[in-house]
Amino acid sequence: MAAEPDKVLIFDTTLRDGEQAPGCSMTQPEKLRVARALAELGVDVIEAGFPAASKGDWESVQAVSRMIDGPIIAGLARCNREDIELAARALADAPRRRLHVFLATSAIHRQYKLNMAEEQILRTAVEGVRRARELCEDVEFSPEDASRTELEFLAQVVEAAIEAGASTVNIADTVGYTVPDEFAELFRYLCKNVRGIERIRLSVHCHDDLGMAVANSLTAVVAGARQIECTINGIGERAGNCSLEEVVMALKTRAAFFNVTTGIQTTRLYPTSRLVSSITGMTVPRNKAVVGENAFAHEAGIHQHGVLKHHSTYEIMRPEDVGLARSHLILGKHSGRHAFRDRVRALGFELQEQELNEVFEEFKALADRKKELFDGDIEALVLRAGGAANGPWSLAGLETHAVMQGPATTTVRLRHSDGRLVEQTTEGDGPVDAAFKAIEAATGLGVMLRKFEVRGVTEGEDAQGEAVVYVEYNQRTYRGSSVSTNIVESSSKAFLEVINRIEQAAAGNRSREERAAGAQTASTL
Ligand code: KIV
Ligand code: ZN
Repeated sequence: MAAEPDKVLIFDTTLRDGEQAPGCSMTQPEKLRVARALAELGVDVIEAGFPAASKGDWESVQAVSRMIDGPIIAGLARCNREDIELAARALADAPRRRLHVFLATSAIHRQYKLNMAEEQILRTAVEGVRRARELCEDVEFSPEDASRTELEFLAQVVEAAIEAGASTVNIADTVGYTVPDEFAELFRYLCKNVRGIERIRLSVHCHDDLGMAVANSLTAVVAGARQIECTINGIGERAGNCSLEEVVMALKTRAAFFNVTTGIQTTRLYPTSRLVSSITGMTVPRNKAVVGENAFAHEAGIHQHGVLKHHSTYEIMRPEDVGLARSHLILGKHSGRHAFRDRVRALGFELQEQELNEVFEEFKALADRKKELFDGDIEALVLRAGGAANGPWSLAGLETHAVMQGPATTTVRLRHSDGRLVEQTTEGDGPVDAAFKAIEAATGLGVMLRKFEVRGVTEGEDAQGEAVVYVEYNQRTYRGSSVSTNIVESSSKAFLEVINRIEQAAAGNRSREERAAGAQTASTL
C-alpha cells in the first residue's frame, strides 16, 4: 500500500516579505483584508509583519493577531532582545502564534553586513532562539542567505538553533542564487549531518532573482522540506518570492510525483490573487502561470479544437480548480440583488451584508451608465469595496473642457469630512493634468507624480477604465486607484485617494506623537 501523503505547510509571507517590495506597501485595513482572504484560502501560517520595522508594522501585526483565528500568526524578529520582545508583544493576542527569528550566516553577510565571526553568529543565534522560546512555544529560526553559507557551518548553526528550542528551521535562498540540484543537495546534507533534525520541521524560503524560486522550493520538498514560504502572486523583494499559487498547483497537479498535500482551497487562488493585485497595484502579467489572464486561454486553432474534444489535450488544470469561474452571462440594470450576489460568489468573493449592499448600490449606478456589465466590472467593484483609503476628501463634482490644440480646463468640487466644500478650476496639459492640478490646489498638497496608468477592465467602448496613480511625497511613495467609465473621473478619484492616504498617514503620525507625549507626561507624573 502506498504511504499516506505528508502534509506540506503553506507559510504565507505576503504581508511581510511581499509588503517589503517597492510600491507594495499596504494600509492596516488593507492588510486585514488580505489576512482574512489568506485564512479563507487555508494557509497554515500568516507572517503578518516585522514588528520592529515600524510602529505601523507593529500595530498591523497586533491587529491581525486579534482578528484572525485559525492559521498561526507569525511575527519576524532579528536575533536581538528588543526585536524579539516587540514581536512577542504584538503577537500576544493571537490564538496561535509563532516567533520567527533570523540571522545571516553566509561569509559575505558575516563579513560585510554583520562584521561578526562564526562563533558570534552561533552565540547570537542561540541566544535569540532561547529568548524567543521563553516568550513563545512555537519558534522558527531562519539562517538568512543559507544557500550561500558553507555547508559545515550552516549545519552547526542549524543544530545549535534546534538545541536552543527552534521547532521549525527555514532554509533561505535570500538572493535567489541557488539552482534545484544544488539546493536539494543542501537539504540532504542537513538531513544527514544535523543532530535532532528529525524532531523539527524543515522549511524553505526562496527568492526569484533567477526565476527559480518555485523550482527550488519544489526540489526542497522532494529533499525533505515540509513547509514552503511563499507569497500571493510571488510579490516580494526585488524579483519577488516563491509564488504561492504556482507552488501549490504544482504540488496538486503533480500529486503522484510529489506525494504530499497542502490545506489550500485552490478555488480561492484566483480571487485572492486579484485582491492582492488590486490592493498592491502589482499587476499580474497576462501570461503568469495559474492566475494570469491567458493561463487558460487557447488561441491556436489546433489547441481550441483539441480542448473542445477533451480538455485534457491542452489543459493540465481546470480553470475552475483555481477559482476562475468566468461566465458569459451579462448583468444589467434590471438584474436584481440576488443575481448580483450569486455572481459575486461565483467569482469567489464573500462580502459581508453591509459591504454587499454598498457594492450593489454602486453596481446600480454603474448599470445606469453602462448597458452591459461583465465579470471584470463586477470584480472591479468588489475589489474596491471597503479597501480604498476613505476620506477625508471625496469628489463631489467634476467638469472638464478640452480642445485639440490648447490647454484643457478642469473644475473639481471636493468635499472634506469636516463639512468644507472646496471648488477649484485649473488649466492643464489635457483634462487629467488639469484635474490633478486642481486637486492639489484645492487640498493644498503638492506631490510629485511618478507614474500614471489607465487600462480598460473589460471590453467594449463603454468599458470602465482603471486609473492607477503613484506619487512621491516626503520621500515616500503613495498609490491610488479607481475605476469609472469616465477616465478623467477615475484618474481624479485615484489622485484623490493618494491625497487621502497622505492625510491619513499624517493624522496617524500626529496621534502617535500625541500618544507618545501623553505617555511621557504620564510617566513623569
Ligand atoms: O529572504 C530571507 O532571507 C528572508 C528571511 C527573513 C527568512 O526573508
Ligand atoms: Zn525573503
